[in-house]
Amino acid sequence: MYRALVYPLLSRIEPEKAHAIALRSLRAAQATPGGLALLRTLSAPRDPRLEIRAFGLRFANPVGAAAGMDKNADAVAALLALGFGCVEAGTITPRPQPGNDRPRVWRLPEAAALLNALGFPSNGAAAVEKRLAGRTFAGVVGVNLGKNKETPAEEAAKDYAAVLDRLWNCMDYAVVNVSSPNTPGLRALQSRAAILDIFSALRVVNRSGGRARAPRPLLLKISPDLTDDQLDDALAAALEASAAGVVVANTTLDRSSLADPLPGRPGGLSGAPLREKSLALLRKVRQRVGRRLPIIGVGGIATAEDVIQRMKAGACLVQLYTAFVYAGPGLPGQIVRGLSEYVRREGLKSLEEIVGAGA
Ligand SMILES: Cc1cc2nc3c(=O)[nH]c(=O)nc-3n(C[C@H](O)[C@H](O)[C@H](O)COP(=O)(O)O)c2cc1C
Repeated sequence: MYRALVYPLLSRIEPEKAHAIALRSLRAAQATPGGLALLRTLSAPRDPRLEIRAFGLRFANPVGAAAGMDKNADAVAALLALGFGCVEAGTITPRPQPGNDRPRVWRLPEAAALLNALGFPSNGAAAVEKRLAGRTFAGVVGVNLGKNKETPAEEAAKDYAAVLDRLWNCMDYAVVNVSSPNTPGLRALQSRAAILDIFSALRVVNRSGGRARAPRPLLLKISPDLTDDQLDDALAAALEASAAGVVVANTTLDRSSLADPLPGRPGGLSGAPLREKSLALLRKVRQRVGRRLPIIGVGGIATAEDVIQRMKAGACLVQLYTAFVYAGPGLPGQIVRGLSEYVRREGLKSLEEIVGAGA
């Protein structure tokens, strides 16, 4: 129904507006009695064999909503009700900021891809805190941490720490985003020194007094455009900083897989053209860190087969965004049903058995 009726309408609307309409509808559903139950009819039945334990948390299934889908945590309960095992809200900056000039999101339907140059539009941490505080719904909520555009690189660690501090009580884990291509200078923070600096500021927040619960697992999200040396540097820093895991990967600036590289449009590419690149990077990361760092695989995931392939390559969890735009709200349920069918067919006790099992 989504492909036949809803997508043709939404696809006529400017992509960012269409996304806002979709989020508003989900927000209205979660605020309406019975709305979440209605959304749950699109999800798959809960299957204990799909549960994943990672960095001290328990995920109902490995399929998460990637950062960017719900930047300001407007519709977290609704997205979880649709069957995602986790929602990573953000990127959230300490202070509100508008992001780059519009237009800044483009659909590439023939390529099943998106281009975005959003530049962290964010309501800011205080506004998001109001939305997440005292949440009553179950499910894992991550927060993707960012810095404000005007904050100089030398002070970036303070920004990441400020968002963690503000939202500490509302989140289950945090991701340090130093890999979006749309904030000038951000990706330079993938250097060893910058990562160590940021994680050390975050550990101070994690240890600060009055925290009733365990320290929040801190993950690093990396770019698929790192050179081998840069990757080695970033992973060594993640290990040294005792990161809880690594998210592989953000959008790419590499347009070589597109028939038309669209030189007039800035921004990062996501969706199907990122699939092979992020899978190859995941394999490389796994080779370098083994089991020392849990990996969340992201980029071009659209089917249960993609999830299985990513997990066999070493990811314990996955996330997606672009495929959801094209396939609609039934996608998480459809993928999770596919995973249940797979564990049944293969006679697995738990899907976790395939993590790192190879192709
Ligand atoms: C419109 C859009 C906005 C995004 N915003 C963020 C963001 O704020 N922070 C972030 O870490 N990643 C962001 N991403 C990247 C996604 O989280 C993900 O890493 C990437 O899109 C690859 O996954 P996909 O191919 O399933 O979309 C964004 C992606 C898109 C398409």
